[in-house]
Amino acid sequence: MCGIIGYVGEEHALPHLLEGLRTLEYRGYDSVGVTVSLGGEEPLLTVKTKGKLRELTEKLKTHPAAADGRCGIGHTRWATHGAPDDKNAHPHTTRHLSLVHNGIIENDAELRAELREAGISLLSDTDTEAAAWLLDRLYADSRDPVDALFRTAERLRGSYAFAVIFKDRPEVIYAMRRDSPLIVARGAQGCALASDVPALLRHSRACARLPEDTVAILRRDGIHAVNRRGFAVSLPTEEVAWDTEQAQKGGYAHFMRKEIDEQPDALRRTLSPRIRDGLPHFSLPSLDTDRIRRVRSLRMIACGTAMHAGLVGKRLIEQLARLPVQVEIASEFRYRDPLLDPAGELCVFLSQSGETADTLAALRHARAAGVPTLAIVNVVGSSVAREADEVLYTLAGPEIAVASTKAYSVQCALLTLLALRLALVNGRMTEEAVRACVRSLCEDVPAAVTATLAMSDRIAALVPPLAACEHLYFIGRGIDADLCTEGSLKLKEISYIHSEAYPAGELKHGTISLIEEGTPVLALMTDPSLSAKTLTAIREVRARGAHVLTVTTAALADALSLSAENVLLLPAIPSAAALPAPFALFPAACALQLLAYHTALARGCHIDQPRNLAKSVTVE
Ligand code: F6R
Repeated sequence: MCGIIGYVGEEHALPHLLEGLRTLEYRGYDSVGVTVSLGGEEPLLTVKTKGKLRELTEKLKTHPAAADGRCGIGHTRWATHGAPDDKNAHPHTTRHLSLVHNGIIENDAELRAELREAGISLLSDTDTEAAAWLLDRLYADSRDPVDALFRTAERLRGSYAFAVIFKDRPEVIYAMRRDSPLIVARGAQGCALASDVPALLRHSRACARLPEDTVAILRRDGIHAVNRRGFAVSLPTEEVAWDTEQAQKGGYAHFMRKEIDEQPDALRRTLSPRIRDGLPHFSLPSLDTDRIRRVRSLRMIACGTAMHAGLVGKRLIEQLARLPVQVEIASEFRYRDPLLDPAGELCVFLSQSGETADTLAALRHARAAGVPTLAIVNVVGSSVAREADEVLYTLAGPEIAVASTKAYSVQCALLTLLALRLALVNGRMTEEAVRACVRSLCEDVPAAVTATLAMSDRIAALVPPLAACEHLYFIGRGIDADLCTEGSLKLKEISYIHSEAYPAGELKHGTISLIEEGTPVLALMTDPSLSAKTLTAIREVRARGAHVLTVTTAALADALSLSAENVLLLPAIPSAAALPAPFALFPAACALQLLAYHTALARGCHIDQPRNLAKSVTVE
């Protein structure tokens, strides 16, 4: 979603702003702008444009003075209120200030009406400009930036992260947030702020998350923060373990491809700290033996890919631990007055970013109802991680590509471990059976994913007919149906091919009418107990002219005497037949990710930043 950067220091601000914005590009954006403090008669210079950083850099050439300032703020905008054009781009500059904003102001219509009545005509269609003018007017009254910011906050409904420069204080950046992240860091040559950690790493690895109800004040020589009553608020720093290099492409053409390839390591990193004596071990009170015995049901709540990992979690927990699990789309959950059972249920919130607005709101809803909450999150210190009762971090490292890949795999892996722990405590599996699964999960699964990655060229060779189509069906049964939902999402979001995932047995209840000569169908078949059923569905669609690509295991291909044509054989998981957990899911997920990647590549799509999408959806 939108990105914020700010710098004040000894050095020229513009290179820091542009580099910070470049680091934030992965969040997805459609316009971009900067304000630089110059002092003098016209103390703030704002340059902004529709389009990408390239367009901004071009426009800056006609404003050479921008290179001189030592304090500035910048923004990448992903349009919510008003079209992506120059006037709606941030920063928004008023009589007294220039401001950038992430989030959504929900009562902007009311504020606009009020401003109109006061004779102020807004230049843009944005909610942000209304907030900027509200702040401007309050500042005109008091000339106290902190007081004006807190009084503005009292009037705003919705979410925001603001960075502001006041014209009569051109060497200071003020910042404040609610439900949208802001991080600050002090480097050797100045102080910086950003909406995401990668943009700050060039300044310092010691980053502090700005708390809510706090105003941060950044000056050349330091950062301090105050609360509403004017008392200083401490900003404890966290040392960022990964470096800029890790957040860069490392020689890959695309972040997505790099992140797909990182999966074996991400799986090992996520699993190994949660294993003790060969058994799942979580040092969390909610997962201790007594508490687990009281759990009567679970609920997985998330959006998009993370929600698809929840489907896998449901399948595994119900199958192995025999506990009922509901999977909820966060944006639906929060508005449907769900029936919750605070005494007997555990709500699990899955999120890569930990900043997804709907997931965060659903978490708050569950907490308000008194239900114990557990977050499974990748970004350390993110809002979901901080607000849940307990958190299990997936240790995938930074995920930059908009399309989530490694975060999904590690979420599935942690949920597998959780299912095994629940099954052990509930007496549904013996220690010996759990140990065998854990061993396979930690050793065979990363190896099978590595072997799948080695099949990238073979997968690329299967892509041309898919790349040429405009519609595609993914079919599978059991866990394969769950994996198809993610395979289909991955394909459509980055290749813009319309696709649908269907449980194979459901096709004949309507959708099969869409199958005609040449309709492409991808059949995923890794579950031996349901393979005969999936094969029937494959025959049904083939009989109606479908062009079927079957993704399966060698064992099933043999057992069903499949011809080699149009079949992709997944690497085997040794002793899979003896294990109760369907670990073929991991190489299968990886193969579907590669398939989507190569299809998008063949279609010349913008893989890391697909159109209309943003990495972290911090608006409702
Ligand atoms: C798809 C994708 C999205 C996210 C969803 C939730 O590739 O990345 O569907 O999974 O927006 O995001 P997080 O996991 O950050 O809560």
